[in-house]
Amino acid sequence: MAAFFLPLVLLSSQVHAMPSVGRAVADYVEANRARHTGDGIISIDVARNPNYSPNGLAEYSRALAKWGADAHGPLAGIAANKGQVGALDATPFNGDREYLSPVEFGTPPQRLIMDLDTGSADVWVYSTETEPSDVGSRAIYHPGNSVTAEKINSSTWHIEYGDGSAAYGNVWRDTITIAGVSIFNATIETAVEVSRSIVDDPYMCGVFGLGFSLPSQITPPRPTVLSNMLPLLNSNLFTADLKYQSNGTYTFGHIDSALYTGDTVYYTPLLDNAQYWEFNFTGFNVASTTAGASQDENSIWFLNEWKAIADTGTTLILVDDDIVAKYYSRVPSAHYNDSIAVWTFPCATTDLPDFNIGFAGVHDWSARVPGKFVNYTALPDSYDNSTCMGGIQSNDGLPFAILGDIFLKAVFAVFDVGGKRIGFAPKALVA
Ligand SMILES: *[C@@H]1O[C@H](CO)[C@@H](O)[C@H](O)[C@H]1NC(C)=O
Ligand SMILES: *[C@@H]1O[C@H](CO)[C@@H](O)[C@H](O)[C@H]1NC(C)=O
Ligand SMILES: *[C@@H]1O[C@H](CO)[C@@H](O)[C@H](O)[C@H]1NC(C)=O
Ligand SMILES: *[C@@H]1O[C@H](CO)[C@@H](O)[C@H](O)[C@H]1NC(C)=O
Ligand SMILES: *[C@@H]1O[C@H](CO)[C@@H](O)[C@H](O)[C@H]1NC(C)=O
Ligand SMILES: *[C@@H]1O[C@H](CO)[C@@H](O)[C@H](O)[C@H]1NC(C)=O
Ligand SMILES: *[C@@H]1O[C@H](CO)[C@@H](O)[C@H](O)[C@H]1NC(C)=O
Repeated sequence: MAAFFLPLVLLSSQVHAMPSVGRAVADYVEANRARHTGDGIISIDVARNPNYSPNGLAEYSRALAKWGADAHGPLAGIAANKGQVGALDATPFNGDREYLSPVEFGTPPQRLIMDLDTGSADVWVYSTETEPSDVGSRAIYHPGNSVTAEKINSSTWHIEYGDGSAAYGNVWRDTITIAGVSIFNATIETAVEVSRSIVDDPYMCGVFGLGFSLPSQITPPRPTVLSNMLPLLNSNLFTADLKYQSNGTYTFGHIDSALYTGDTVYYTPLLDNAQYWEFNFTGFNVASTTAGASQDENSIWFLNEWKAIADTGTTLILVDDDIVAKYYSRVPSAHYNDSIAVWTFPCATTDLPDFNIGFAGVHDWSARVPGKFVNYTALPDSYDNSTCMGGIQSNDGLPFAILGDIFLKAVFAVFDVGGKRIGFAPKALVA
């Protein structure tokens, strides 16, 4: 139901080993239930890098050094093409569980519907190399039909999951066209096998990683598609404007001021050495808009520094337990259901308060997530159609919060690679 990567803490305290925070790999409810009851009907996928070395930064520099020689191939031809801008739709599926966007692979272009994921760095697709039972009826990439496709011999990608299942495949070079911008000789990871919970999502044809400076899971290392795309763009940034139950927009290379209100984007710096889109939020407030809410309670701000990542590939807002508890303490009908490890409330609840968030270095503005957005979805009918699941849940002890789609729907977001910062601006909301 909720795209989520739950898992990190279950396996390892070294959560930064995880290459893919963002990819929607597990159903939140089922995964939680399985975890808490131990009857594991549905596996919990954990993106775990078995080769993780605690010195991630050193690893990364080494990887960069290795790319040196190869980078000239992919980047050839940029001079003629730089300065581009483009936009594409982000369409919600399954009640805002995930947002998918059309991306074209090869020559002539083959259009696949991809999950643009700021929480991971790999661009992988279902292809003619994928196990047919994994493919189902979705569109796939046919390298054999692309005159620009070239297999990169003796190069593979491989992600292992916590339940022992795995996704892995081969590596190709081909043209990728996203938002009208063509990236020549981009690295495309073609899946050979894909784990069940990913396969069970019938819409998505692949994941398009847009992590800040996370290396991809290719051996030997190769530059990420984002790093190949940036030199082609007018500015080294992209933006996300996800929408509540309707089509939103990603833009590349420019900021479209029509997508937000006011004239200011509020920027907060990324953490030193960030690999994810990771920054601090410095305050939150829970304010009810319903009549009768106490002004005193509404005006309370809790201040601290909490690390967070902005992740388009995670459905929910996942924060520390005490923040979750403070939010639901303002929802009289909410309760924490132990057996599924999820905060729930009756779907008829109309008193969900707004969740306001303040950011490091931003003094005169905070983001408002409308209470309505926190009514994420009704639990599946096997549970009870009249019980709804909250869009704010525990991060299960992770050392950072994950501000996923429930948050991103509420703002216009600028992922500024060049400025090593992330920006948010208010926009017109349906609630
Ligand atoms: C792509 O790579 C191939 C082989 O390495 C090279 O011949 C070609 O010029 C490259 N194309 C571009 C546009 O960089
Ligand atoms: C990769 O291997 C295939 C099959 O052995 C071969 O046809 C192709 O030329 C090789 N490509 C490169 C770039 O070496
Ligand atoms: C949303 O975007 C998709 C994909 O581009 C498109 O097929 C669909 O018609 C759009 N829906 C609306 C309501 O604009
Ligand atoms: C984020 O918060 C941590 C912990 O309080 C602090 O050490 C760090 O300087 C902050 N970084 C930024 C960029 O705000
Ligand atoms: C909450 O969401 C559920 C499922 O989408 C919906 O049936 C219900 O009416 C919503 N509740 C409110 C108060 O909007
Ligand atoms: C839940 O809703 C679905 C369709 O909306 C219906 O088929 C099912 O019977 C309902 N289940 C319960 C327990 O009410
Ligand atoms: C917790 O959730 C389970 C599964 O939906 C449900 O059967 C149970 O009644 C819920 N418990 C409470 C106290 O609501």
